[in-house]
Amino acid sequence: MNHLIAPSILAADFANLQRDIEMINRSEADWVHVDIMDGVFVPNISFGFPVVKAVNKHAKKPLDVHLMIVEPDRYLENFRDAGAAGMTVHYEVCPNLHRTVQHIKELGCKAGVALNPHTPVALLEDIIADLDMVLIMSVNPGFGGQRFIEHTYKKLYDIKKLSDELNPGLFIEVDGGVDEKNIVKLAEAGANVFVAGNSVFSATDPMATIADLKNFVSAARS
Ligand code: DX5
Ligand code: ZN
Repeated sequence: MNHLIAPSILAADFANLQRDIEMINRSEADWVHVDIMDGVFVPNISFGFPVVKAVNKHAKKPLDVHLMIVEPDRYLENFRDAGAAGMTVHYEVCPNLHRTVQHIKELGCKAGVALNPHTPVALLEDIIADLDMVLIMSVNPGFGGQRFIEHTYKKLYDIKKLSDELNPGLFIEVDGGVDEKNIVKLAEAGANVFVAGNSVFSATDPMATIADLKNFVSAARS
């Protein structure tokens, strides 16, 4: 599967969001990663529907919406209406995960499930065949710019193995601390979608960094 780059707008300049989205439009990025935080599931609040709608107005690439919120079922329709192409919910807050996943699909969106660093990959065995994507958190969710957790490589190997057996077309997304130094190793471990916040937006040339992230993996594969 082709690998995809999803810059996270959490690290963008919110006072110049249109400018930063237009940069993503012109770049080699594939998706726009949109982090929703509620101050309950994670100790931070990001933004809500009006901002997602405004982002969608300018974005020419699919919105990959990462819901770090409790009771996501209450808001799925709102996020679809705001422009989400895919929605990822956290395993840790979904007691009826199968129902939630079906609901996302019925809304016409790609369905993903995210795992916190402490949540074992094996818990997805009975749902993985129903998913479009698994998101492996490589930092504790809530903030951009945190240090990458090394144990993530093992989790990627495990989820890739499960995906090869049960859902070969699965998107395996890694989120947190991804940069030009670790992206090749992450791809080798099994990831095929890479979220990048600070490594892109803190760079002197964000577009060139996105191109590097994209090309480093392609070059390593050829
Ligand atoms: C963290 C978010 C990430 C974040 C990644 O809770 O889910 O998407 O924006 O930011 P970086 O790449 O800076 O770690
Ligand atoms: Zn995220």
